[in-house]
Amino acid sequence: MSAPIDVGALEDFPAGEAIVAEVGDTMVCLARVDDDVFAVHNTCTHALEGMGGGYVDGDCIECPRHGALFSLRTGEAMTPPATKALPTFPVDVRDGRVLVTPTPSIPHPILDR
Ligand code: FES
Repeated sequence: MSAPIDVGALEDFPAGEAIVAEVGDTMVCLARVDDDVFAVHNTCTHALEGMGGGYVDGDCIECPRHGALFSLRTGEAMTPPATKALPTFPVDVRDGRVLVTPTPSIPHPILDR
């Protein structure tokens, strides 16, 4: 497993905002839920829209293009038109810093096939 990458201070991730960061060679979308930060692949599994700027609703994120809802915790596609899960990435908050391990939970169902 690759070493975690520091993507910023916890305060750089206000609740309700979907923020994109480069983690290794992958763009990930990060969103804070309470004191946790979750990271999903930034590319929607429906039609490849960037998830950054998507609406964060509780522990889910809505794709800004067609509105599919994904779980930030598991990456699961909760509503159509997306049917395939987003890869997630392990996030650790340590000493006020947000660390993302650049190892996806699953291959991206479109980009990695
Ligand atoms: S591109 Fe994300 S729901 Fe269509």
